[in-house]
Amino acid sequence: MKRVLFVCLGNICRSPTAEAVFKKHFAESKIESYFASAGTAGYHIGERSDPRTIQHGEARGYTMDHLARQFTDKDFEDFDLIFAMDDSNYENILKLCRNAQDKSKVHKMASHCSIKGIKLVPDPYYGTAKDFENVIDILESCIDPVIERFYR
Ligand code: 4NP
Repeated sequence: MKRVLFVCLGNICRSPTAEAVFKKHFAESKIESYFASAGTAGYHIGERSDPRTIQHGEARGYTMDHLARQFTDKDFEDFDLIFAMDDSNYENILKLCRNAQDKSKVHKMASHCSIKGIKLVPDPYYGTAKDFENVIDILESCIDPVIERFYR
């Protein structure tokens, strides 16, 4: 079974949303996979997701029960695919790669987004409700392309 890790900066907004969105849609499609999330920074370790992440996620039918944790190089052993939410997350993960195999697991989430012109999953932390909804829209649009690319 493929093990997939979503990574953002704080692990309280984008990556726990990705985890919840993918868990629900894969369960509904009856595709088996394991999903988790982490942050490159340690600011929020052990905390529940941002209240806005929980509010918008739950309003759209997702289970928002993640507790934040920090990405470590052990994640290269525990996961098959690692999706970075933006270019900064991507570069920070690459810096922790120990070899070519680690590197081959790291992808940009928005490279698999079906909304035209989307190059990253923008950080909503200093944003508004609209920005949190946008994160969910982008992540939902990544599901079918990810299935096509990695599960067919
Ligand atoms: P996330 O958003 O990376 O999507 O979880 C952020 C959460 C917290 C902070 C920045 C971004 N922060 O600076 O604490």
